[in-house]
Amino acid sequence: MPHPDENADLGARVDAAVTAALTAIEAATTTAELQAAKAAHNGQGSELASLNGSLRELAPEDRKAAGQLIGAGRGRVAEAIAARQAELAAAEEQAQLEAERVDVTALPRIRTAGGRHPLTMLVDEMSDVFVGMGWEIAEGPELEHEWYNFDALNVDPDHPARGESDTFYVAPAERHLVLRTQTSPVQMRSMLTRELPIYVVAPGRVYRTDDIDATHLPVFTQIEGLAVDKGITMAHLRGTLEHLARIMFGDEARIRLRPNYFPFTEPSAEMDVWHPGMRGGPRWVEWGGCGMVNPNVLRAAGLDPDVYSGFAFGMGIERTLQFRYQLDDMRDMIEGDVRFTEQFGMVI
Ligand code: DAH
Repeated sequence: MPHPDENADLGARVDAAVTAALTAIEAATTTAELQAAKAAHNGQGSELASLNGSLRELAPEDRKAAGQLIGAGRGRVAEAIAARQAELAAAEEQAQLEAERVDVTALPRIRTAGGRHPLTMLVDEMSDVFVGMGWEIAEGPELEHEWYNFDALNVDPDHPARGESDTFYVAPAERHLVLRTQTSPVQMRSMLTRELPIYVVAPGRVYRTDDIDATHLPVFTQIEGLAVDKGITMAHLRGTLEHLARIMFGDEARIRLRPNYFPFTEPSAEMDVWHPGMRGGPRWVEWGGCGMVNPNVLRAAGLDPDVYSGFAFGMGIERTLQFRYQLDDMRDMIEGDVRFTEQFGMVI
């Protein structure tokens, strides 16, 4: 039999260890802290574990009571750990749910998404007129081969427009690349790749070595039109452009063709539009170039000019925007000031 004092002593040590353990368990505020408390107070090397280990040193008849005492203490500690574990896990889950909470009733933050540029809208508006008549949209590269931009369009090798004072040539010279000076090269690209008949409009950006001023931009936009079919006449060209003019400028709009020269059309014409809404009264405004596709161009595309004929036209989008809305300075179109865009009803 151990001395009664020894049992009392063991009881006191178990109580002290259990109290220390319970205090640490209660103090743990995270599952990680709780794991640490568990290791310190109930794991290997803890007071309770070493008390348990010392059972071996007791006389066999004392072991049972001492074992029960220690076992009861460890049981209380284990229970407290389990209970605290459940509390902390629940709290942590709650905190996570709270952190991930989405308030579906919250008002969205207003983001300014940006708006479409008036030039883009005008390109779409004009393209739509043609799409509405069954035409297709064609595209070509802005970095273009000289052949498409000039030769295929019947532009003579020493035509002034081919000079470096008008055209951006792109090195190395032997690749014969230019920044296209017009959307007309899309005519040839369309004739070479599409099935006949062809009815396409090709809007896009073009480049010229012009100095920038109120009516010139070195980078600007054109829209090209091309119709190739059997029996196409100048009357079709006229009717098509007049239809476009009326949609763009109102029912009183008219067009007028004045003889001109373009290498890729024969005959060629300058097209004016009678713009009823001009500031200071209606008047004729120069709008673009047009004509019947030159037989040489049809031949370059492998088409027989005795079977097929076509018309083509091209106009500047910036210029159209400028006179349609009586804008004084084209430079406003490229400066990126939203106040310009807002005047066209864009909400930015
Ligand atoms: N490409 C011409 C220019 O940039 C405009 C033009 C004139 C286009 C006559 C045409 C056309 O398709 O037939 O000045």
